[in-house]
Amino acid sequence: MDKIGLFYGTYTGVTGEVAKKIAAELGADKVDLHNICCDGDKMGDYQKLIIGTSTWSIGELQEDWDSFMPKLQTMDFTGKVVALFGTGDQVGYPDTFLDGMGMLYETFQFRGATFVGFWPTTGYDFTSPLPLLDHDHFVGLAIDEDNQAELTDSRIKEWCRLIRPAFGL
Ligand SMILES: Cc1cc2nc3c(=O)[nH]c(=O)nc-3n(C[C@H](O)[C@H](O)[C@H](O)COP(=O)(O)O)c2cc1C
Repeated sequence: MDKIGLFYGTYTGVTGEVAKKIAAELGADKVDLHNICCDGDKMGDYQKLIIGTSTWSIGELQEDWDSFMPKLQTMDFTGKVVALFGTGDQVGYPDTFLDGMGMLYETFQFRGATFVGFWPTTGYDFTSPLPLLDHDHFVGLAIDEDNQAELTDSRIKEWCRLIRPAFGL
């Protein structure tokens, strides 16, 4: 399938709203939105993936992703392009900020994925090492609706500009 499959996990709806904004920014006809609670079995259909999660319970993966993890750990993403995004709270949980995104990065990496959309850490204040690619970059887009909601739209716009070529858009 040539469309992008965007799979997200959300508890209070924040990551779902960010997912919708990303899809709108890339073009609604280019992206299929899937909630991982119900549509995980469709992930294998896509060569191009956007994957989003929140973090809960001080460093835990969002629960629907957690439930999907055993299946994810059997899948092969060799040759597939994956862009990650995460939502979290850097003020309330600086030690575990976006840990869920870091956990998904590790799993998709182990299963052979090629990543795009690394995002600069400039403008964030946190200590968690898990969502980091290196000192200066997150493994994917970092959204903090709890403390920096006013930056969300511009961050999404810029990140979509960054990943567009890798997705052939
Ligand atoms: C009890 C509780 C624990 C949380 N733990 C974390 C955490 O460890 N790391 C983090 O970045 N955000 C944490 N958060 C913040 C949520 O991840 C954040 O609000 C997120 O945007 C929620 O997205 P969702 O509604 O899509 O699940 C926590 C929030 C609550 C209320």
